[in-house]
Amino acid sequence: MKKSKTSFFCQHCGYMSPKWLGKCPSCNGWNCFAEELVVESDSSSRAEMNFDGKPQSIEDIPLTEGQRTNTGIAEIDRVLGGGIVGGSAILIGGEPGIGKSTLMLQMMHNLAQKGLKVLYVSGEESASQIKLRSERIGAASKNLLVLVEVSLEKILEQIKIVSPAIVVIDSIQTVYSAELMSAPGSVGQVRESSSRLILFSKKFGIPVFLVGHVTKDGSIAGPKVLEHMVDTVLYFEGDSSHTYRIVRGIKNRFGPTNEIGVFEMQDKGLKEVPNPSTFFLAERPQNVAGSVVVPSLEGTRPILVEIQALVSATNFGNPRRTAIGVDYNRVSLLVAVLDKICGLHLSGSDIFINVAGGVRVEEPAVDLGVVAAMASSFLDKPIDARTIVLGEAGLAGEVRAVSQMEVRVKEAARLGFNRCLVPKTNAAQLGKIAKMEICKIGSLKELLENLF
Ligand code: TYD
Ligand code: MG
Repeated sequence: MKKSKTSFFCQHCGYMSPKWLGKCPSCNGWNCFAEELVVESDSSSRAEMNFDGKPQSIEDIPLTEGQRTNTGIAEIDRVLGGGIVGGSAILIGGEPGIGKSTLMLQMMHNLAQKGLKVLYVSGEESASQIKLRSERIGAASKNLLVLVEVSLEKILEQIKIVSPAIVVIDSIQTVYSAELMSAPGSVGQVRESSSRLILFSKKFGIPVFLVGHVTKDGSIAGPKVLEHMVDTVLYFEGDSSHTYRIVRGIKNRFGPTNEIGVFEMQDKGLKEVPNPSTFFLAERPQNVAGSVVVPSLEGTRPILVEIQALVSATNFGNPRRTAIGVDYNRVSLLVAVLDKICGLHLSGSDIFINVAGGVRVEEPAVDLGVVAAMASSFLDKPIDARTIVLGEAGLAGEVRAVSQMEVRVKEAARLGFNRCLVPKTNAAQLGKIAKMEICKIGSLKELLENLF
């Protein structure tokens, strides 16, 4: 085989250098060089990757995407948009130890039991370690093949020989191509290995799952560099100190994004949590100031979470502000609005906001929840335990509409909540909901008047 040629390219401006450089002479960026393969026109090693396609009318392309394979794990199927699409590349990211390998093995086991031949390629654990884990989660099937390998060329060769229905690469950071000089896990290697695996999977219609570690700062050679190359990106959220795990769809070419799947890590692997609201509200204190429930929407699913606030007098010069699970900047904004417009003088108080259970709620629709929790703690008045609040706050103290109000309020009604404070502007969309008192709010002032 002809020795292939590689060069180093600046990831910002594309400057090419035969050697690695710390600083790019062209754009002056630091630490931005990654090794890439320089493809020669007659490169035989890449010929296998060619699609040798011709343009065709879009009407003539057969529709094959309708065929999805169910993973047997309902929470993952929903995040994927109804199962695995043939030939798709799916990236599973997350911090080390969060449960990526466990989830993959459980899923592969389910698929193998359905009679599909699946290949689990591991570059991190030995075959016996995988066996040990499989014993623990009860995954054993003739159709589940395990390959311990890190060389990209050998992995591709084995995929060709075995021709499995689904491939898992655990993890992409351990795979290396002999054609590049850089070490496994470097940007160049990760990108080259993934692009060849993805091309291969597209050509033969084999779905491939790529497991990728997210480093703490989320940058170096992490899954970030391949997010744009794959069809679907799923990230594991949650931290190892809590037992629950959330798998969130960040990107999905074949389905909805921001859909989440909730799991609980047990001694026998990951268990689905079909009713996350009850799970997150399980330990909620009753009739305590500073706690309120908001119906947040994750993808298409409403999930009720508890927002807690603790407002206490500052002992030092600068008040402390901490926000866990909600956006810090939004909290600062809401504090300022409460101070200036509602006359609730929080500027001299330490404020701590926490979303119980360690969930993250990103959408502005939970603004009123944060406001209500802070006001409740500041005034030391508990909010009724069966009340929910919902709405986005504006800088002038007005309350703005939220999307999909009906599903949210219905979910709350289903769980036994009987009063909701919702934005006036789109309250009209809300039909009559049994046993639910609907209180329409136009401004933050009105919220505070109606809250207790
Ligand atoms: P793992 O899937 O190895 O994480 P990753 O591949 O993302 O690095 O999960 C490891 C953690 O999960 C480890 O701390 C042990 C825990 N675990 C359980 O609690 N129960 C189980 O059944 C399994 C298999 C793992
Ligand atoms: Mg692992």
